[in-house]
Amino acid sequence: MVKRKLRDPLEDRKGTLYFDGVSTTELAKTYDTPLYVLSEKRIQDNYNRLYSALVNNYKYVRIYYAAKANTNLNVLGILHSQGAYLDTVSPGEVFLALSRGFTPDRILFTGTNVRNDELKMFADANITINVDSQSELERLLKISVPQIISVRVNPDIIAGHHSHCVTAGPESKFGLWEEEVIQAYAIAQRARVERFGIHMHIGSGILEPEIYAIAVEKLLNIAKRVHKEVGIDFEFIDIGGGFGVPYQPEDRDFDLQEFSSRVVSLFKNKTKDYGLGKPFLFVEPGRYLVADAGILLTTVNTTKTTPNRKFVGVDAGFNTLIRPAMYGSYHPILVANRLNAADSETYDVAGPICESGDLLAKDRLLPEIAEGDLLAVLNAGAYGYSMSSQYNSRPRATEVLIRGGKPVIIREREQLKDLVTNQKLQGEV
Ligand code: LLP
Repeated sequence: MVKRKLRDPLEDRKGTLYFDGVSTTELAKTYDTPLYVLSEKRIQDNYNRLYSALVNNYKYVRIYYAAKANTNLNVLGILHSQGAYLDTVSPGEVFLALSRGFTPDRILFTGTNVRNDELKMFADANITINVDSQSELERLLKISVPQIISVRVNPDIIAGHHSHCVTAGPESKFGLWEEEVIQAYAIAQRARVERFGIHMHIGSGILEPEIYAIAVEKLLNIAKRVHKEVGIDFEFIDIGGGFGVPYQPEDRDFDLQEFSSRVVSLFKNKTKDYGLGKPFLFVEPGRYLVADAGILLTTVNTTKTTPNRKFVGVDAGFNTLIRPAMYGSYHPILVANRLNAADSETYDVAGPICESGDLLAKDRLLPEIAEGDLLAVLNAGAYGYSMSSQYNSRPRATEVLIRGGKPVIIREREQLKDLVTNQKLQGEV
């Protein structure tokens, strides 16, 4: 019998995995699998822990939840009630934010390669835009001169859990480089924009506060130059998201206290030294708020041994959780119905998609697995559903939220009929 070390909101009750007080085997029975399960309480706890740590060192802090991590309207609603603001990247995310009651002054738009009609939509709705190129800025100013504008800076710092998630440095498509940044603010000022912010986002899945200290220092130096050379003040300085969560067993937690005492204090001291006043400090976490507030339940239907490998075949694949296939990401997997069985076999956990790369885990040490076992894939609350697809014509899975100790459906499972939505039949067969 093994006793596994589980983190909140996971619990071992007599060998069965409970999530936020609810039995995962009961959830699978009631709602079928694949099934995403989210915990309202964990999202709230994550938000409050982060907010308290930041505000402890600097009063003027705002958390902009990066909606792309999980755009379920209920998740947006939970964070809205906590006092969160929202960072969006598409007309769709802006639409969802407005539908959930975020007023335009609580929404930022940080897109890339943005179309003119999209810029018009955001300008008409009075949403603050972080422009990602001089081209975007000039096109925006022709459409309408906003009251406030912010420029996304590429601070030339490289960070992120995978090359796809590095969003700064010389190879990145994002942001403007220092000299261009100065010009951009000068252009905006000439066009009579009156209020300003400045933005960066260096990457995702960062566990070391140190890298933020370096990047923030760089950003503040650029802000100082803009302040001096262009003669403008900043209402906000946005240092982006990217705070990591532990995925691998050996990963540490993101050290919030260290982040706050090093990075937030640095921000406070330097803005003062540089005469930048008391701008709001914006952060844009996605994963930190929702990753460990969600699990993916999937049922084993097949076990198979080939000359080289042992496969566990499950009903969730890269259509449901693409991170392992796309970035080689590690997600912990537990046998939810037999938590205390000892690890003894090395398996590849494979989904139902007809591609060899459809693996949720490779060479994973697990207990011996039987058909009908229920697996829980952890840290699936961020970039799980939001990156899912209907590939291989598989309808997307159900999402359930645990609220006040009870499960409630927050998104119905798609049906076969949903596969033909928007298709147009031309001619007879
Ligand atoms: N702000 C901006 C401008 C961003 O581009 C992103 C993420 C975030 C905030 C939030 O990053 P987070 O705190 O969640 O790391 N699909 C990848 C992550 C891509 C994130 C892209 N931008 C993954 O599953 O790891």
